[in-house]
Amino acid sequence: MKNGLEDVIAAETRLSDVDGPAGRLIIRGVSLDDLVADGTYESVAALLLDGLLEAHVNAEGLKERLGAARAEIYAYVVADATLLALPPVDAMRALIARLPDGEDFETAFRLLAAPAVFLPAVLRIQRGEAPVPPTASISQAADILRMMTGRLPSVEQTAALDAYLVTISDHGLNASTFASRVIASTHAGLTSSVLAAISALKGPLHGGAPGPVLDMLDAIGAESHAKTWLAAALDRGERLMGFGHRIYRVRDPRADALKNALKPLVATGQVDRSRITLAEAIEKAALAMLKERKPDRPLDVNVEFYTALLLESLGFPREAFTGVFAIGRTVGWIAHAREQLLEGRLIRPKSVYVGPFPIAA
Ligand code: CMC
Repeated sequence: MKNGLEDVIAAETRLSDVDGPAGRLIIRGVSLDDLVADGTYESVAALLLDGLLEAHVNAEGLKERLGAARAEIYAYVVADATLLALPPVDAMRALIARLPDGEDFETAFRLLAAPAVFLPAVLRIQRGEAPVPPTASISQAADILRMMTGRLPSVEQTAALDAYLVTISDHGLNASTFASRVIASTHAGLTSSVLAAISALKGPLHGGAPGPVLDMLDAIGAESHAKTWLAAALDRGERLMGFGHRIYRVRDPRADALKNALKPLVATGQVDRSRITLAEAIEKAALAMLKERKPDRPLDVNVEFYTALLLESLGFPREAFTGVFAIGRTVGWIAHAREQLLEGRLIRPKSVYVGPFPIAA
């Protein structure tokens, strides 16, 4: 029995390859760096879904249909008291649960559009502001920022969000993707797969880490406090958020993709440079300390560390970070669910019973 299914192969996929020792991510044959260099959310979504929903999906066609799906989804935006009291990711999940289920491409497009429309609406409603309806003619990244702030974003902001959405679109058989495939294998429908996946994603050991990364940055406050604060946290047996990974034994390649995506925002004065300098100093101190304290376990920075800085720079409140992660990862969940449905079987592993047996008479 492998605790946590570590190293267990549970699916064959053509979608992405996570090479832990090399620190390399490939999505459908394209390296992460190439995808981010000229990629948009629409282009990576077309790449992931090609052949899995219909014979051929291209980025332009997908942009148009996504725009139409956002407009359709807006009808489901409601401001009821139950949703107002929930953390944004839970409110978003509750809204998605109201969508019809199915395995056809209309369901898939509704699900790709839904988190992008629901999260900005929930954030505005919870702040006491009226939600902003979507605009079909602009990209998904630009529209998410526009629906959140009520203003068209700058070119650099849209590019940074696109880089984030591309970077986190798919990542092997992580916990939420596995959840999506398990549900798909029962033929329950794509909406059910996405709901299960969001539920897995929200845990702090998976997609819930970037909010706590900022809490750590705030608690440390200044470079000179970093060592003392980090040592005290590790002495208390806490984990440093934004560090460590089940598969990567070196630096998570997504961390540098996001660090690079921040650069145009810094260069154009759209981000507080001192915040990035503080984060870099904390990263350096944490890496040195983890190396000293856990010499047998290579621990490096993971995607969540720079996710936190990038999403903060774009104006997302930290309680919304997991929701933004869900916006980007939904395409991966859908692609895996479709692959499972088309090529896989019911997922039904076995457990080893270690409890008592009835006493023989
Ligand atoms: N800070 C301090 N110690 C750590 C950390 C950390 N962030 N991560 C792992 N360790 C230690 C852990 O305490 C254990 O030490 P020991 O053997 O002495 O008890 C050892 O490393 C192995 O830990 P593990 O729990 O067996 O490793 P895992 O593969 O289950 O953990 C992880 C992976 C991501 C859950 C873990 O590294 C962690 O909790 N990191 C902090 C939370 C975080 O940043 N999560 C985002 C992950 S990236 C997003 C994604 O791809 O989903």
